[in-house]
Amino acid sequence: MPGCSRAQLHYADGMCGIVGYTGRQRAVDVVVDGLKRLEYRGYDSAGVAIVADGKLDAQKRAGKLTNLTEALKAQATSADGAVFEAGTTGIGHTRWATHGAPNDLNAHPHLSEDGSIALIHNGIIENFAQLRGALERDGVFFASETDTETAAHLLAREYANAPEGQDRLSEAMRRVCRQLEGAFTLLAVHRDEPQTVVGARRNSPLVVGRGEGENFLASDVAAFIAHTREAVELGQDQVVRISPTDIVVTNFDGTPAQTREFHIDWDASAAEKDGYDYFMLKEIAEQPRAIADTLRGRLTGTGEVVLDDVHLTPAQLREIDKVFVIACGTAYHSGLVAKYAIEHWTRIPVEVELASEFRYRDPVLGPKTLCIAVSQSGETMDTIMALRHAKEQNAPVLAICNTIGSTIPRESDAVLYTRAGPEVAVASTKAFLTQIVAAYLVGLYLAQVRGVKFGDEVSAVVRELEEIPAAVQQVIEVSEPVREIAQRLKDDKQILFLGRHVGYPVALEGALKLKELAYMHAEGFAAGELKHGPISLIEEGSPVVVTVPSPKGRSVLHDKMVSNIQEVRARGAKMIIIAEEGDDVVEEYADELIRVPHVPTLLAPLVTTVPLQVLACEIASARGHDVDQPRNLAKSVTVE
Ligand code: M6R
Repeated sequence: MPGCSRAQLHYADGMCGIVGYTGRQRAVDVVVDGLKRLEYRGYDSAGVAIVADGKLDAQKRAGKLTNLTEALKAQATSADGAVFEAGTTGIGHTRWATHGAPNDLNAHPHLSEDGSIALIHNGIIENFAQLRGALERDGVFFASETDTETAAHLLAREYANAPEGQDRLSEAMRRVCRQLEGAFTLLAVHRDEPQTVVGARRNSPLVVGRGEGENFLASDVAAFIAHTREAVELGQDQVVRISPTDIVVTNFDGTPAQTREFHIDWDASAAEKDGYDYFMLKEIAEQPRAIADTLRGRLTGTGEVVLDDVHLTPAQLREIDKVFVIACGTAYHSGLVAKYAIEHWTRIPVEVELASEFRYRDPVLGPKTLCIAVSQSGETMDTIMALRHAKEQNAPVLAICNTIGSTIPRESDAVLYTRAGPEVAVASTKAFLTQIVAAYLVGLYLAQVRGVKFGDEVSAVVRELEEIPAAVQQVIEVSEPVREIAQRLKDDKQILFLGRHVGYPVALEGALKLKELAYMHAEGFAAGELKHGPISLIEEGSPVVVTVPSPKGRSVLHDKMVSNIQEVRARGAKMIIIAEEGDDVVEEYADELIRVPHVPTLLAPLVTTVPLQVLACEIASARGHDVDQPRNLAKSVTVE
């Protein structure tokens, strides 16, 4: 492979899935199986390195994991497959390239010059240019354009200088980490250490799986859940060495580190497709269970909401005079929904901010500002940086998160876990609904602590929430008409989504799902805002999806929406209307009508979002797209 001059572009890897294994099984099988479960984290390239009998061998391919597995199959029948056949220690990587074109050259693992060390990386080494320059001046040859390769060469150098013994690779790794700036998870193997994998973690996810006679490292427990449900959480700036029998964790300075063991309460089948065509369809179907689990045990007999881990006193919470919800993408939309409920129940003003914007506009924060960080993965870098900014300003942070032990809950003052189970499809579905439920529980908790709601009032809302799983189930069971509508819309160029009140963030979420999966132009609008500009987008036959508020209770919202429907219909729009059973008024305006059961207004997003998820999934499938792994995206966005 040709070397690269420093003037060329360098490519770093943002999200990526990482697996390490040492034990008694054929490592390549365990590692590739783990990568399959992590492919949602990135699918630009994949690679593995295996160690056996004083030899190290690596294979890597651009594109999806199947390209690598094909190459491995071909190799298995040739003489080159010996190390892969015999090795019981290995590492593997699936890449989401942050900058530049992904190709074989830049795929991981990266090797030291003498081929003794293989290293994989998730994150960005910010000072790699200086480090690479120094190495090149010393005559080191670079085979790729990545920042990662710098760490591989540095590790080889430090290994040569580190004292011999079983800690040698860890010590070399610690020395390397002390030179690196940025965010990184690194895993490495050395050909002379056939039963050792060393990992390092700063700001990117890494978790240890504790097996019997075998141990694992991975960016997500899904990679090893088929082998063990016992895990060890790593902290920031830690190095871990695993052998088949030992897990040794140290800080970057070499001192022993504090770790926390935890049990994973879901099993491998939770991360399988289970007969569904896509993970997304399975995850949509799991929503009733996910909501029920998120509610379970969260309410005491006296109507008190129980958070998981709270280092905030009721006195502190009584002082809160402002709430910020900080999140990205779908999680941000859940915050927009929650704003309506939290303000209504607590009378505290709530602002919902895109995490990527939050710290750059110098928000007014202090000990009386509660920041709620919402994240499925718990590893979204924009959200992590926003929460750190909030903490620097002494604002308490409460996490709503789906991933136990991830960075966001670890760094927050209080946590409420959503219990959605693993979400594998890149498009978020069950996480969204459970985030809304969790944020509602937080709102009720605040209302109660502050004395603006009595226990019986809180219990009444929770009882309404407990009815939601059955309503969502009903929507899922009658989603056939949505599939048929999807067939009719699949060739359109643009779809607009309208909503009012809590239906507005639902419209934003419906549009995001469609953009992300179907690659169609889609926008969500507050229905009342349409006449202030966007209505000019409407042409004869333009599809417009509308979620109609319940005619019961807040019928003013319903009536306003009906007149908005008439406005767009008069311009020739094709109306796809999602309305409550029994709402006869809308029938005459609907080209397509999707019925949902009646639920209280604030809870409506929990049912009206579901047909929009199905619609996006089915349109994407009809257009021939990879529903679970849409182009250019990765599940967890661990770069800013
Ligand atoms: O893991 P997080 O909830 O922090 O992720 C936030 C967004 O990246 C995520 O919701 C994204 O928008 C989804 N792919 C949307 O379906």
